Amino acid sequence: MAQIFPRWTNQTPKLITLGALGGLVATVFAVYWWASPYHTDVGYAPRQPVAYSHALHAGELKMDCRYCHVTVEQGAMAGVPPTQTCMNCHAQVKKGSEKLKPIYDSWNDGNGTTSVEWVRIHKLPDYAYFNHSAHMGFGVGDKRAAIGCETCHGRIDTMEVVRQVQPLSMSWCIECHSDPALNIRPVANITTMGWSADLGWREKQKEIAASINPPGSLSQAQRYVDGHYKTYATASCSGCHR
Ligand code: HEC
Ligand code: HEC
Ligand code: HEC
Ligand code: HEC
Ligand code: HEC
Repeated sequence: MAQIFPRWTNQTPKLITLGALGGLVATVFAVYWWASPYHTDVGYAPRQPVAYSHALHAGELKMDCRYCHVTVEQGAMAGVPPTQTCMNCHAQVKKGSEKLKPIYDSWNDGNGTTSVEWVRIHKLPDYAYFNHSAHMGFGVGDKRAAIGCETCHGRIDTMEVVRQVQPLSMSWCIECHSDPALNIRPVANITTMGWSADLGWREKQKEIAASINPPGSLSQAQRYVDGHYKTYATASCSGCHR
């Protein structure tokens, strides 16, 4: 029979298989590496331009987080306050303090719109999407609830310098999304530090968890719809990678 393809093409299927295997191994390794707790910034606590203390303002003075992080309930970002917010008090309190000099300098620029250059601590890569407001209120009616700041950021009210306490890895997100019950609290307690559920609330947590559907939830990956199991897990990658 006439040879239609040159002899070397006999190798092609083998090469494709090898290439595909290599790609698979690389992908599995990449996911393993990026999702492992070693590749995270837990403990990251950079020096800030002003020795601002959450332990003093949110702890001792009991200021609500939302006084400064004003967009946390409505927006994707919580927001870091402009100099104006500090000046509400520091126009009088500790006026002239050396520690507050960068605040006064940024205020004295003539229009008051500049901010101190705070160093960002918690930061996901650009290909991952996070939204604070989605966590500050979900579920409907009497099943409305939230995740508290302390669940993801720790006891900020005791920190002189903010440090990252959770890995912010994909497996960390998915772990909660698959079984959020124990992390669910009343919306009124979003910013409460040291909150814990009473017995009545423990029952309610389970009910609420069953009524919501966060992206990547493995517990809801298989659901019985119209007489068949449907797989939803892979469809929801786009919930966090849009
Ligand atoms: C008086 C204003 C003020 C209050 C009140 C306040 N914060 Fe902050 N917060 C700041 C400023 C300024 C920064 C940036 C400097 C820093 O990291 O310390 C910041 C940074 C943070 C960060 C890190 C941001 C990043 O870059 O990743 C988190 C998380 C945070 N605050 C959470 C909270 C929580 C939770 C509360 C309530 C318990 C709270 N804050 C109360 C002013 C405030
Ligand atoms: C479900 C977990 C979760 C909860 C709950 C949460 N955060 Fe965050 N926070 C994050 C993640 C993740 C980032 C990084 C987001 C990014 O890089 O896109 C972040 C970033 C921040 C930042 C810095 C960037 C920004 O958004 O301005 C501040 C400030 C902050 N959080 C404050 C708060 C406060 C205050 C609360 C409670 C009212 C809160 N967070 C609740 C997970 C959470
Ligand atoms: C609601 C009022 C209030 C707001 C708003 C406020 N502070 Fe303060 N701050 C205080 C008080 C009260 C003290 C403690 C004063 C004392 O020790 O007598 C203080 C102390 C400080 C100190 C220590 C000063 C020193 O010399 O010991 C720094 C630094 C500081 N604040 C930074 C900030 C920054 C930055 C902001 C804005 C993100 C801010 N504060 C917003 C009330 C406030
Ligand atoms: C402690 C629990 C917890 C953690 C940690 C957590 N989430 Fe969530 N997330 C939830 C809950 C609960 C919902 C609400 C689900 C609903 O409304 O059905 C949610 C919803 C979402 C949504 C849906 C928003 C929308 O508008 O559809 C996105 C996106 C999301 N989370 C991303 C993330 C990412 C990215 C991380 C990790 C960086 C993360 N979450 C960490 C509990 C958590
Ligand atoms: C709940 C939110 C969430 C869902 C759902 C989710 N991811 Fe992710 N993913 C993340 C976050 C956050 C990161 C970044 C982790 C980090 O910085 O360590 C990430 C990272 C990754 C990475 C690593 C990228 C790299 O550079 O190595 C891959 C690959 C990935 N996701 C694929 C997927 C696939 C496929 C799905 C669907 C099966 C999925 N993700 C669903 C939140 C999510």
